[in-house]
Amino acid sequence: ALITMRQLLDHAAENNYALPAFNVNNLEYIQAVMRAADATDSPVILQASRGARAYAGDAFLRHLILGAAEEYPHIPICLHLDHGDQPSTCISAITNGFTSVMMDGSLLADGKTVASYEYNVDVTAEVVKIAHAAGVSVEGELGCLGNLETGAGDKEDGHGFEGKLSREELLTDPDQALDFVSKTGVDALAVAIGTSHGAYKFTREPDGEILSIETIAKINKRLPNTHLVMHGSSSVPKNLQDLFNAYGGKMKPTWGVPVSEIQKAIPLGVRKVNIDTDLRLAMTGTIRKNFSENPENFDPRNYLKPATALMTEVCKERFEAFRTAGKA
Ligand code: G3H
Ligand code: 13P
Ligand code: ZN
Repeated sequence: ALITMRQLLDHAAENNYALPAFNVNNLEYIQAVMRAADATDSPVILQASRGARAYAGDAFLRHLILGAAEEYPHIPICLHLDHGDQPSTCISAITNGFTSVMMDGSLLADGKTVASYEYNVDVTAEVVKIAHAAGVSVEGELGCLGNLETGAGDKEDGHGFEGKLSREELLTDPDQALDFVSKTGVDALAVAIGTSHGAYKFTREPDGEILSIETIAKINKRLPNTHLVMHGSSSVPKNLQDLFNAYGGKMKPTWGVPVSEIQKAIPLGVRKVNIDTDLRLAMTGTIRKNFSENPENFDPRNYLKPATALMTEVCKERFEAFRTAGKA
């Protein structure tokens, strides 16, 4: 059976570790995460975006994940909705077997207009009321993800504010975070600290100016008992960029969130770390390599197997680095 995010994050807080939350879209992603979890004895958060639900279909997703639970009965699994855009999206996820939902009220339902604080409180509190009655956990988000150096909002994948934002808007305010959590009752809070979604987060190795672990420390001081979430936390490792580019891929030089920075954030209350881009890159890089090296092949299993294997390696590294390993 699936368990809630609350149960997993409470255990993570008690034992001072974090869970990577991997975005999944199909069988191969789920196999990769589960194989890595099995190999490292780690509990799992599998998250599906609205895009993933539209791509796979709710029934396929649910049954794939129930399949994972059957194959790996010793691994605790949570099925989480990533970036619910409005209460109705969260409700349909709950109806479809998700044990945790994110209500991202930092933006309006159009996905690109910055919402007022009052709107965010209202929609998030509404979802908490419904979700908790159904035994489902809720993640909220406060602050706007985006690049602190350029002020550019988070618009990489068509989700996020498109204009420029001030430093204040790009960093979650600790006092407001305290008010938000007490008014909404969320189980976990996603915070803005200079990370953004997608591959192009930073144009240089991030330092304290463009990735504010300090902000997490301040929020944690106000909210020592709230589980914090880091979005946009792929590391976009050089080896995966190189693999992708070596076989005709076109990725400009870029930096993600270093694993070492995430490790600094874990003792400061970060319990969930969202990762999508790194698995996309591992899968697509491997497929590019295989298409290039084996042009005669037309059996998809011959390239999906190594693609899944590389995703498994990335997942294992994160489970080890965040000290999730051994906690299943
Ligand atoms: O927040 C974005 C996640 O990386 C999911 O991306 O909406 O393209 O599935 P997606
Ligand atoms: P990345 O794009 O850094 O992998 O972040 C994923 C994410 O935050 C999903 O909600
Ligand atoms: Zn996100």
